[in-house]
Amino acid sequence: MEVVVARTRDELVRARAAMPGRVAVVMTMGALHEGHAALIRAARQAADSVLVTVFVNPLQFAPGEDLDRYPRTFDEDLQICEREGADVVFAPTEDVVYPQPALVRISAGPLGDVLEGAVRPGHFEGVLTVVCKLLQLTIPDVAVFGEKDAQQLALIKLMVRDLDLGVAILGVPTVREPDGLALSSRNRYLSADERLTALALSAALRAGVESAPDGPDAVLAAARGFLALVDGVDVDYVACVSEPEFADLAGSSYSGPARLLVAARVGATRLIDNVRVAIG
Ligand code: PAF
Repeated sequence: MEVVVARTRDELVRARAAMPGRVAVVMTMGALHEGHAALIRAARQAADSVLVTVFVNPLQFAPGEDLDRYPRTFDEDLQICEREGADVVFAPTEDVVYPQPALVRISAGPLGDVLEGAVRPGHFEGVLTVVCKLLQLTIPDVAVFGEKDAQQLALIKLMVRDLDLGVAILGVPTVREPDGLALSSRNRYLSADERLTALALSAALRAGVESAPDGPDAVLAAARGFLALVDGVDVDYVACVSEPEFADLAGSSYSGPARLLVAARVGATRLIDNVRVAIG
């Protein structure tokens, strides 16, 4: 069946009312790739009907970030949604999502100020505000997000818990190229040489995982040590956090489920990646 495209709030209300059974939403900023396709497939498994949102949210970009050049590929996005069996695509313009400037926003709390939040102040406030609005507009039973944005996923779970939003949140593992590069809409900014350099991020994570039996500091030292040997990677942070709390494990003797995260610039492109690691 052909996917229904809703551009306005009225069109969304009509399309949503016609969706049978349990509804899953997949929120995206477009520029869809196989990682998003995996989210749509997971949504299909989790519910009877699937709604994909495509909206580049200005609120989560700081001045000077890549809002203006963020890839917009709606025709290809629609093909992927159709191929993966999405039922509805909500693709609003900015004035549909923000008919008035968003004066009231969702504070991300302490987890919003560290790691990505420390490098990108205000980013998670913008993410949570639009995610909350899109949940209100699409009224799903379940919302599906990628583990690639692990801190975002942790914060969305916290928001749903703390604000009693009554929706199930499903995390889906990161999809990688055969050589390890995590799929990202921003990979298309990379030149061929930069793409090769960018492989250092996933390789550093693998190096960290190998040191898991020796504790958090060994994991961090292995990942950082790997990156220090690579030219052309400008590291923002390497961190190891407990799951699901996302507590910083540096200097601790923690053992248990954790996540190793890296953020770095390769050329002008900022990339993030992470892996699960069982410490101890
Ligand atoms: O992960 C993303 O693509 C965005 O942060 C999201 C969740 C769609 C909110 O704009």
